[in-house]
Amino acid sequence: MIDASNALSSVDVSVARSAPKVATAVGLAVATKGSVPRQLGLNRTALETNGFEGKAGQTLAVPTRDGVVVAVGIGDPDSLDANDLRSAAAAFGRAASKHSHLATNLADVEGIDARSAGAAVIEGVLLASYRYVGLKNDSEAGSKLEALTLVAGEKRAKAVEQGANRGAAIAGAAALAREFANTPPTHLNAKDLADRAVEIGAESGLQVEVFNQDQLEQLRCGGLLGVNRGSVEPPRMVKLTYTPKNPVGHLALVGKGVMYDSGGISLKPSDAFHQVMKMDMSGAAAVLSTMSALKALRCKAKVTAFLMCTDNMPSGSALKLGDVLTMRNGKTVEIHNTDAEGRLVLADGLSLAAEEEPDGIVDIATLTGSVLTALGPKIAGVLGNNQSLVDQVESSAEAIDEPVWQLPLETKRYRKMLDSVVADMRNIGGPYAGTITASIFLSEFVGDVPWAHLDIAGPMKVDGDDGIYSKGATGFGTRLLLDVACNFTPPNA
Ligand code: BES
Ligand code: MN
Ligand code: ZN
Repeated sequence: MIDASNALSSVDVSVARSAPKVATAVGLAVATKGSVPRQLGLNRTALETNGFEGKAGQTLAVPTRDGVVVAVGIGDPDSLDANDLRSAAAAFGRAASKHSHLATNLADVEGIDARSAGAAVIEGVLLASYRYVGLKNDSEAGSKLEALTLVAGEKRAKAVEQGANRGAAIAGAAALAREFANTPPTHLNAKDLADRAVEIGAESGLQVEVFNQDQLEQLRCGGLLGVNRGSVEPPRMVKLTYTPKNPVGHLALVGKGVMYDSGGISLKPSDAFHQVMKMDMSGAAAVLSTMSALKALRCKAKVTAFLMCTDNMPSGSALKLGDVLTMRNGKTVEIHNTDAEGRLVLADGLSLAAEEEPDGIVDIATLTGSVLTALGPKIAGVLGNNQSLVDQVESSAEAIDEPVWQLPLETKRYRKMLDSVVADMRNIGGPYAGTITASIFLSEFVGDVPWAHLDIAGPMKVDGDDGIYSKGATGFGTRLLLDVACNFTPPNA
């Protein structure tokens, strides 16, 4: 049996030649052309009469005596890829959400690699079934899903099963990231996340070191400590290391772990965005969750991760506008807005990462509202100092269907927006190009190391169920970073 447990829920995933009797919901792939599975009991004309054309994401549930068979649209069979299968599987998962035992032949579609198909279908069903129920007394609030069988023919079964194993690990990691980001801020402070990192590290073959306030002072992490000054909760920096035998390359990951971003003295208005600032640790959540699955996925690269964790709070001891911080790498920063805190905590993380001399650094952060203005809620921004590394992030993003779009790191023209009269730089630029000026700020802390920055302020959450994403935190970036790490090649300079 495949282990699809992720500390949240446990789903029995298996591969079989036919749908087992216990499966009361059976999803059957139907393309926009070609044959229609006989088990549906309806031909194409009947499906079309009911508004089902086989388009990707469409479903049509046909009740039977024992449950339901679901026609699951996969779109044009000639241009089908794993991403379409993942979306179709998510649609099936949602259509069958009242049922506990599911089966589907979606991974058995010809013309698509059986391993990728197995992984994509498991990811789709498991991620669409995710619900955050941590604090609900209603026992009906959680996912009903208990078992999922992938139906596959003899030729493909073995590879589908291998893929399903990977898919279960990947979905578990993404669900874990959602769980962290959905958790209320007082239920998950910096210390709590560090404690979880220690537990997760022990379960998943990682070396974990936690740095408290005193140790951060010794490390001269002025950015993280500065942001923490207004908070009654102490900060934590967590370093996690995954070292496979004979590693191929060394990747460093840095995650913004602002457990709650009130804006500090530059207090945010009590609007809808302030309401979701418990999710301002989504970057750190994605990094920790990625780390948790590297061993299961047999990642070949060495990966070192830094989680930079603190609240951003206003108080009598909080950072003031006009204050100057000395960062880990010695550079000085004049504070012009305490709500531009993400870059301050990341700066120290990037310096620490660069000191390890990895082949590449990828950081991930809910960094700027500007990226929402530029790219909207479904696309992450990517910027970097090394095109080869940015290209790796882009190709992973395409492969696993978490879209990113590159913005220019326009240092030559825009660096002067960060000029300060009293320090090496200020922590905000002007009114425009906020995502770019934030990235130029970050670039000051990576030295010559190839680096790419992901701004996930847009896709960190969805306002309603949407494909594989369930209302709330998306875990965006987890599947992406896992793909980057598992395919990492040291970039050329
Ligand atoms: N955490 C926010 C960015 C954010 C906004 C994330 C919306 C998710 C959704 C970040 O710390 C922030 O406050 N950024 C400021 C920067 C500004 C003061 C230069 C912003 O984008 O408004
Ligand atoms: Mn902020
Ligand atoms: Zn923030």
